[in-house]
Amino acid sequence: MRDELRVGSDADAGRNREYGFDFAAQLAAREQQGLRRTLTPTERVAARSRMAPDPKGGVPEFDSREQLVFAANDYLGLAADERVQAAAADASRQTGTGAGASRLVTGDTPPHRALERDIAEMKGTARALVFSSGYATNLGVLSALAPDIVFSDELNHASIIDGCRLADAETRVYDHCDPDDLRAMLERRAQEATGDESWLVVTDSVFSMDGDVAPLEELCAAAEEYGAWLMVDEAHATGLYEAGGGIVQREGLADRVHVQMGTLSKALASQGGYVAGSELLIEYLLNAARSFVFSTGLTPPAAAAARKSLQIARESDRPARLWANVERLRNGLEELGYEVWGETQILPVVVGDRETTMTLAERLRERNVIAPGIRPPTVPEGTSRIRVAPMASHTDEEINHCLTAFREAGRALDLL
Ligand SMILES: Cc1ncc(COP(=O)(O)O)c(C=O)c1O
Repeated sequence: MRDELRVGSDADAGRNREYGFDFAAQLAAREQQGLRRTLTPTERVAARSRMAPDPKGGVPEFDSREQLVFAANDYLGLAADERVQAAAADASRQTGTGAGASRLVTGDTPPHRALERDIAEMKGTARALVFSSGYATNLGVLSALAPDIVFSDELNHASIIDGCRLADAETRVYDHCDPDDLRAMLERRAQEATGDESWLVVTDSVFSMDGDVAPLEELCAAAEEYGAWLMVDEAHATGLYEAGGGIVQREGLADRVHVQMGTLSKALASQGGYVAGSELLIEYLLNAARSFVFSTGLTPPAAAAARKSLQIARESDRPARLWANVERLRNGLEELGYEVWGETQILPVVVGDRETTMTLAERLRERNVIAPGIRPPTVPEGTSRIRVAPMASHTDEEINHCLTAFREAGRALDLL
């Protein structure tokens, strides 16, 4: 009786309604826009692997065929390197599989310290700090810096965009790799400035979807002219350039970039992110970056694996082997008649139309080549592409196989 009385009464307005979440509708909308994603498990992280369809939580059943992987960010092929695996295994035995706590509690271990020393040396900075992912690094660093204004390249990575949001900063987006547009924005903003603000210019060094490189020297000059700080995300460059460094090292700009950030999860074949800079900056960040303070430390095996990879990147011919494969593949694709953008190890083969791009990716897969189709909204309309990422561990034969697959698939679709 009491329940019946309740229904419809003013005091209970809001009850008997549905306050849940309609995921089915949201997934259907994504499906309709062609944006529904699925998981494709891979048996191992290496130049060749077997794939399985999304098991939706079950045990994957891998295909009997091996596929050639031209889709990984393990650019130096070190995830399958025995020396890196041994370093992770040793750290796991000597230190532990997990850090067990925040670095600020009991999770600060010798593998962390050794890795941070090596990163600081490679980056030419006083100190470095590692986080549990590159994404967490950008979120933590940007929100701790809490700039009043951020000037951000329009193609910066999602973790930078999210970091700016978390920092609650006024964000001004300048045209991609355009120091003149940045300079004009700085000039306009300088007219309104109060003088007690903090300004940060932030950019990727190598852009993950276009494979191009930010004009760092000119960005440094613009930032310096207006007294802003510069932060550079070297996620796709770390380990590949001068002495294991990134573009900042190639251009000799370590003294002019205030915040150097990067990830351990791509060429360093591990997991985690880092920030490198002055003693004071790092001391501040380890106190103020919430994704560092309130998160369990990077796992010791991940720290040790990244350190070993960095050493190999600095001392071996792995980067040279990557660049040789990149040149061979880029030249081969261009000779076939494909348009290949960029100037780095990321080779965006631009097709244009989104459906054709996805069909091309499917035809490549049928020929045992895994290279993902990238379409809007990840890239602008009309620039859908196959993102081809060769690795140092691909053999000449494997690069040739990739080229043959592109030739056959391209001709089958009348693209060549
Ligand atoms: C430019 C850039 N920054 C940051 C990240 C995030 O790094 P992680 O994958 O280690 O979280 C990525 C990776 O996807 C990236 O491409």
